[in-house]
Amino acid sequence: MIHSLNKTRDLFQKAQQFIPYGVNSNFRYWGEETPILERGAGAFVWDVDGNRSIDYRLGFGPIILGHAYPEVNRRVAQAIENGVLFAATTPVEIELAERFTRMTGMDKVRLCNTGGEANMHALRIARASTGREKFIKFEGNYHGNFDYVMYSGPTAQANRLGPRSHPHRQLASAGIPAAIRNYLISLPYNDLELFERTLAAQGEEVAAVVLEPIMGNVACIMPDPAWLRGVRQLCDLYGILLIFDEVKTGFRLANGGAQAYFGVKADLAAYAKAMGNGFPVAAVAGREAVMAVVGPGRVAHGGTYCGNLVAATAAATTLELLETQPILATIFAHGRRLIDGIQTLLRHAGVPHVVSGVPSMFSVLLGHDEPPTDYRSYSQFDSQLFGQLGAELIRRGVLVDDDPREPWFVSYSHQTAVVDETLTLFEEAVRAVFAHR
Ligand SMILES: Cc1ncc(COP(=O)(O)O)c(C=O)c1O
Repeated sequence: MIHSLNKTRDLFQKAQQFIPYGVNSNFRYWGEETPILERGAGAFVWDVDGNRSIDYRLGFGPIILGHAYPEVNRRVAQAIENGVLFAATTPVEIELAERFTRMTGMDKVRLCNTGGEANMHALRIARASTGREKFIKFEGNYHGNFDYVMYSGPTAQANRLGPRSHPHRQLASAGIPAAIRNYLISLPYNDLELFERTLAAQGEEVAAVVLEPIMGNVACIMPDPAWLRGVRQLCDLYGILLIFDEVKTGFRLANGGAQAYFGVKADLAAYAKAMGNGFPVAAVAGREAVMAVVGPGRVAHGGTYCGNLVAATAAATTLELLETQPILATIFAHGRRLIDGIQTLLRHAGVPHVVSGVPSMFSVLLGHDEPPTDYRSYSQFDSQLFGQLGAELIRRGVLVDDDPREPWFVSYSHQTAVVDETLTLFEEAVRAVFAHR
């Protein structure tokens, strides 16, 4: 049970004096309850008051092995003895690129620093390759913080998205030039008929379709496999490049990401998160012919820190471990045990629910029992009710996001004992919320 939060509250007050909202990323702002964490090890984190929690937020997904994973930290510490950054390629980048392309099935890869940056470059490469400027994205999908994609994302007001056949492009941030919206066609997820009709009208103007192969920012809504296959086929028909945003799914669904998991190949893909176990590293990758446009005097890709030794060593080590040990299989087994336990407890309590996603990354939705298929149908669920359950979990030391749109993430360090402790606390939390209903 979480006890005192005195130090947390004092520090958060101070944080707000110097940092807007006291956080360095808007997503970390939890109002007065904003946590301040100071340590992590394996499946656990500790706040500044010394409270220990089992962590299912995992830095919004990157921690695939566990916090402060010894082998990754050891190799990074060793690497930086020889410097962290040169204005040149290093051997570890080459080793990483070889392993990365083997694992993902992509032909060529360039390193970046964030998932948003990787998507931004994928879009630019697609535009350069096709000579077209428009792109399609789907409601509720999040691709980072750059202007082109900041519409109709996971914080959009579902009742103001307009008619399904002609969706509004709902702006997600102030400060974006109005004309930017003209490049975007926004569509509901999982609707092949509407997608096909849209391409029939405008397909020749579209450079790229970018999508999250699982809606990792809206309750892990799953793709209909027929929709994914259909999108692939129609992209080929209209000469459009298909970009998979694998920032959350890459190295978490399978070593080959969502493309291997669902058996659908993208032309370009963006990776980040799990590829570095929390170290800031990302990648844009793609087919040989598509990536051929990247280079001096052609498509600009570059950055001072791209492929720095900290990031490259962390990624090289994480991918080596994923490739040589049954890590994702173990995570899936433990995640399955957790999901089964959660569902049994909710069933016994008579609570309508859906667990959406896969065992390494899933969401618990309450108040309804039909799986959501797009951002609009997600609003049928009772997010406030989950908020109450989330608050009871957090009070007991199970750190989940109290907004059910953000998944529960499971790492290799969430072993059986951790899962079982979670289920004991989950049972208490369910009793606290539902006993008197
Ligand atoms: C699917 C997806 N794409 C892109 C991003 C942006 O990644 P970053 O925050 O590293 O820029 C995120 C971040 O959560 C994401 O979930």
